[in-house]
Amino acid sequence: MGIPESILDAFEDPLLVVNGQRIKTANVVARDLLGQRIVDADIRLAIRHPEVLELIEQRDAAEIDVEGIGRTERPWHVIVQPIDDQNMLIRLVDRAAAHAAERMRVDFVANASHELRTPLATIMGYAETLAEDAVRDKKMRRKFAKTIRQESQRMLQIVEDLMGLSRIESHRFVAPREKVDLGALAAEAVDNLAELAQRRACTVTVDVESDIPPITADTAQIEQLIDNLIANAIRYGCNESSNAVEVTVLRIRDRVRLVVRDEGDGIAPEHLPRLTERFYRVDAARSREKGGTGLGLAIVKHIVERHRGTLDIASTPGAGTRVTVDLPLPRDATRIGP
Ligand SMILES: Nc1ncnc2c1ncn2[C@@H]1O[C@H](COP(=O)(O)OP(=O)(O)OP(=O)(O)O)[C@@H](O)[C@H]1O
Ligand SMILES: [Mg+2]
Repeated sequence: MGIPESILDAFEDPLLVVNGQRIKTANVVARDLLGQRIVDADIRLAIRHPEVLELIEQRDAAEIDVEGIGRTERPWHVIVQPIDDQNMLIRLVDRAAAHAAERMRVDFVANASHELRTPLATIMGYAETLAEDAVRDKKMRRKFAKTIRQESQRMLQIVEDLMGLSRIESHRFVAPREKVDLGALAAEAVDNLAELAQRRACTVTVDVESDIPPITADTAQIEQLIDNLIANAIRYGCNESSNAVEVTVLRIRDRVRLVVRDEGDGIAPEHLPRLTERFYRVDAARSREKGGTGLGLAIVKHIVERHRGTLDIASTPGAGTRVTVDLPLPRDATRIGP
């Protein structure tokens, strides 16, 4: 019974086919984990775990949770399945990865609920007070109503951002198809944000290299990406002493690069790796007050991934922040010569 190796290689879990004690086939990930020479070797040399070996010897379908397969202490879920009289399929499922994904899911639900609950509590409090007719003063009532509207808007923004994020995720494997001029979109985004920039006394300059070919992209998503990055630079990177934001679009061989740079307070290194997590804010109170939900960079990261690009956030506390996004040019645009 021969399962072609190419089929096994398509799976992300380590897979082995054993005939008696002999390993007949192992996919790439299994070889990475257990050693490149395990094919044709004795299973007892590749997997030294007694409980797993016992399971394989029994030649019945079975599953077990163990630790210490391969060189790491990672926890595995091992599934043993007979294929025919002779051969058994052994599948190793990485429980550490499953745990991490599960943790992320639980954290996400907790964070989202918390973010929605905070404005909701305010809305309910004010609405109840108004309903009881306890506030006689007209001005006061108007103030309460205004807060209710602001907090509802905030909730709506969070819900819309979350929906946007899941839309982007659901299109993860759908290649974008539109022709997009990154430089033009960057200039447009700066125009759209002129009012915000003015309010924060921020000077935004755009520098676009000429003759950059269009990229193949999703226009709305790229607009959203640029808008998020420039808005961040204006919101968090502009203060009295340093109010310059620079947006640059240039070509680097087979990629187009967007750089958004500010000279603000910067971000401490311990926060950098977490900035693209959903709802992560360096100073939650401060960014909330500026209207931020902490979803912007999570959205940016997903958009960059869908476009097979890269995202780099570099920052020096006290000196400023530089965000770089590289997006690939279509192959026909990178060919040299006519
Ligand atoms: N240019 C910057 N300078 C300093 N801090 C920044 C900069 N850009 C982002 N940050 C920090 O990173 C955090 C996360 O940014 P992100 O864009 O994900 O969320 P947000 O701006 O708070 O909310 P949203 O973008 O959803 O409105 C911000 O809250 C801010 O603390
Ligand atoms: Mg933002």
